[in-house]
Amino acid sequence: MNIKFPDDIHWRYWVECWDSMQERYIACRKERFELIVRLIADTQNTITRVLDIGCGTGSLMLSVLQKFLQTEVYGIDFDPTLLVLAEKRLAKFGRQVHFTQTDLRAESWLQSVPVPIDAAISATALHWLNAEHLSQLYCQLAGILRPGGIFLNADHLCSSSPAIQTGWEKHREQMLREQKDGDAYDWDGFWQAYGRALNVDINQFRSKFTWEGSEEGLPIEWHFEKLRACGFEAVDCFWRCDCDAIYGAIRGQN
Ligand SMILES: C[S@@+](CC[C@H](N)C(=O)[O-])C[C@H]1O[C@@H](n2cnc3c(N)ncnc32)[C@H](O)[C@@H]1O
Repeated sequence: MNIKFPDDIHWRYWVECWDSMQERYIACRKERFELIVRLIADTQNTITRVLDIGCGTGSLMLSVLQKFLQTEVYGIDFDPTLLVLAEKRLAKFGRQVHFTQTDLRAESWLQSVPVPIDAAISATALHWLNAEHLSQLYCQLAGILRPGGIFLNADHLCSSSPAIQTGWEKHREQMLREQKDGDAYDWDGFWQAYGRALNVDINQFRSKFTWEGSEEGLPIEWHFEKLRACGFEAVDCFWRCDCDAIYGAIRGQN
């Protein structure tokens, strides 16, 4: 099913709708992007190329481009309806931005990124992958990052304690219930409205973008172990609030 995107798509409106929808679910979303940018600046002497994995509408890429004025940023996502918004949103950065529509579960995605890269970053995307694909991705990232380059991911992580996990989920549900009725769409509302604007049956279209991970994500110890096994060092958690965290690591010298 190919989509013919309307020439007059109101991309600013839909980008804003996406961001406000994400902010309903993700506490401190903007602050997390700032922390990712700061960690890149603190750890990298040269920042020539940055990769955003599961870039969606380019929100995190924008934070990177605003801070690093010469850096080339590569966005990867398998959903063309989000990539079209990212392309329009970041068009003003010209040849600094590059997008590829590809599935991270297929090894061929690696061909879309010139190597080496200085930072590989992601927000709320990697929990869509199952454990096998995610550990494969970590080793692929170690292969394309420059030694000393950084990997950072802001995402959902579960607890290995069922009692703690249950508490986090209760707290999250309460937070969502207590949200004031604003203008922001919820996840399904966004897709239904955006699908109408694109004139597509969005349920049918989105059924192509399967995901095999879990909403809760995997425990932080799991990520640490897999990252070390792929050659990462200085593996750490840089921020955490219940089931949401920013963790990452530096690619080792070997
Ligand atoms: C919740 S959105 C987050 C988007 C963006 N990072 C942000 O913070 O706004 C998750 C993104 O991951 C992308 N994604 C999930 N699984 C993917 C895969 N296997 N290959 C490529 N992109 C994927 C989705 O299409 C979606 O854009």
